[in-house]
Amino acid sequence: MKGLVLSGGAGTRLRPITHTSAKQLVPVANRPVLFYGLEALRDAGVTDVGIVVGDTHAEIEAAVGDGSALGIRATYIRQAAPLGLAHAVLTAEEFLDGSPFVMYLGDNLLRDGITELVERFRAGTSDAMILLQRVSDPQSYGVAELRDGRVVRLVEKPREPVSDLALVGVYMFSPAIMDSAKAIRPSGRGELEITDAIQHMIDRGLAVEPHEVTGWWKDTGRIDDMLEANRLILEVIEPRVEGELVDAALEGRIVIEAGARVVRSSIRGPAVIGAGALIEDAYIGPYTAISDRVVVRRAEVEHSILLEDSRVEEIDARVESSLIGRGVTIRRTGEKPRAYRFMVGDSSTIGLL
Ligand code: G1P
Repeated sequence: MKGLVLSGGAGTRLRPITHTSAKQLVPVANRPVLFYGLEALRDAGVTDVGIVVGDTHAEIEAAVGDGSALGIRATYIRQAAPLGLAHAVLTAEEFLDGSPFVMYLGDNLLRDGITELVERFRAGTSDAMILLQRVSDPQSYGVAELRDGRVVRLVEKPREPVSDLALVGVYMFSPAIMDSAKAIRPSGRGELEITDAIQHMIDRGLAVEPHEVTGWWKDTGRIDDMLEANRLILEVIEPRVEGELVDAALEGRIVIEAGARVVRSSIRGPAVIGAGALIEDAYIGPYTAISDRVVVRRAEVEHSILLEDSRVEEIDARVESSLIGRGVTIRRTGEKPRAYRFMVGDSSTIGLL
């Protein structure tokens, strides 16, 4: 069985971070979200993996390389434009070469991995297996309608959902998906939807097997989901302190990478502090991921993700539930007149006290 990981797309719901960076590379507990998916495939014994890339291909290729560090063999497949998940399948036709495959959306995270499901699909005779989970906002997802345990209808982002069963971004297919992907027409948003292709399979009498996922699942396309994924992964990290501690108070699960310094500060885990980071006269609260070379000085940060080379300094109020991009500086200046001074990229969101 082959793997097909989708790592294109514009990531509009994570702007401005995704103006300059691929959404699949935004880190969760300091590792690109994409790596968790690639490892889930590897753990399921799927090591021949095609990665569909778009405009951000250079960055994805730089991060994953030939895949050997993650235990897979990566083949890059260029999708000329983000024309939908079924279009990505068509783009990968040559790579897939008639093989059954697991399609994994590069921004999805599943607590329990996919090993058992891949085994079940391999052993069975279905033409597709879809994973489902109940959600409170089904209109944001593809939605499945089941009858007597069988899938009868799939609708992509319905305005009035018929059920609360969302399609998780992991699918297993026999080569029969190819004809269905070729047969469908673009949706209202101008994309060839995988949801429509699977519906087409159902309509021509092929077996589509549903499986309800019980462990947590996150599609990290939005900031709240990203922070939640960060929280869930940090909850189970292995504590490890390799950096330097000077007058530091640590509590709970904490990773401090080599080269990081924690000076006159307290850290309450779960939290991770990246290599070369400096935490000085500061407080880092639960569910915080501080990337490499970040500086937090005279400030308090909690339930947040700070990307590489950012600085948060001299802030009176606690910073929380924030996603801060690379090389960002947030600092009280003390200059007169007393005023907010912003230089903020397009589509940013700032919450003031
Ligand atoms: C895609 C699929 C949708 C699925 C979701 C899961 O949506 O089109 O059916 O429920 O992934 O992550 P997108 O995130 O591309 O809007």
